[in-house]
Amino acid sequence: ESYRQEMSSYQVANAENLEAFRIKFLGTKGIVKNVMAEMKNVPSERKKEFGQILNAFKIFAEERFETLKESLTSTSQQTYPDIDWSLPGDPIPVGTRHPLSIVRNQMASIFKRLGFAIAEGPEMEDDWHNFTALNLPENHPARDMQDTFYLNQNPDYLLRTHTSSVQARIMEKQKPPIRIICPGRVYRNETISARAHCFFHQLEGLYVDEHVSFADLKQTLYFFVQEMFGKDVKLRFRPSYFPFTEPSAEMDISCTVCGGHGCSLCKYTGWVEILGCGMVHPKMLDNFNIDSNKFTGFAFGMGVERICQLKFRVNDLRLYSQNDVRFLRQFTGAV
Ligand code: PHE
Repeated sequence: ESYRQEMSSYQVANAENLEAFRIKFLGTKGIVKNVMAEMKNVPSERKKEFGQILNAFKIFAEERFETLKESLTSTSQQTYPDIDWSLPGDPIPVGTRHPLSIVRNQMASIFKRLGFAIAEGPEMEDDWHNFTALNLPENHPARDMQDTFYLNQNPDYLLRTHTSSVQARIMEKQKPPIRIICPGRVYRNETISARAHCFFHQLEGLYVDEHVSFADLKQTLYFFVQEMFGKDVKLRFRPSYFPFTEPSAEMDISCTVCGGHGCSLCKYTGWVEILGCGMVHPKMLDNFNIDSNKFTGFAFGMGVERICQLKFRVNDLRLYSQNDVRFLRQFTGAV
């Protein structure tokens, strides 16, 4: 009788519970078998009486097993009448595009309209593509302008310090006309602060063809600035030096934050430097067997973070790589 009670109150939540029930009561060493084995000790005149009781016990156990088994399958097929399936689901949060991606895409689409194609190169570079091919031989003092990360102490391999390395890779395999932009990440061993980081992003431009002049360079950049910042923005070129361009210039635009009246971004000068540029050095063309008597070219390189600062007025470079959602969420909807 106590076994009957135990079986009656037995509940199963899963297939393991059910199997445990089967083993305990109906298994080859189970209780039903044990009880049945007692029959041999029953005197023959009472065998009939006992046989009926034990048979009923066995049937009870088998039926209980079936009932428990059904209770398992029916819960898994249970319907949920209380749930309103027509209710809208929980919204899935959608991320936002990173501000640097937004600005890089805008920059690229402006240059694409002028016929520039996008080119890419490796971030791990060799000395030749990052320096030597660009007219920066070993021991050239201009190498010190860029604090280089060398890989495995092997001075032949480094993290590219500028996207000008992609210029070298393109001229190596493509002949003029060449009209490309190279957006990408670059690395310099600088102490991280609001104004400097050990990695940042550049967008390089290169145009090589017959009769390319400094006027073409100026007009291209003028168009870019007007499309990016509006018609009111002024620009100026200052003579500068890069080993891979001659003549070279740096370009400033009137500060978009204060409108040229003076603020902390432009250090109260009204102007912000946004890029370096120049006419491709003939020696660089020769390095790639491009006839420098026939072809000329211009190149420019600018920092995406700086353009982003001017567009979105972000004044701390570190924000771009901290992945703080409070910062990133503010760009929701910008594309
Ligand atoms: N590579 C230069 C820099 O990182 C920028 C530049 C590119 C200058 C192309 C001239 C021409 O500062």
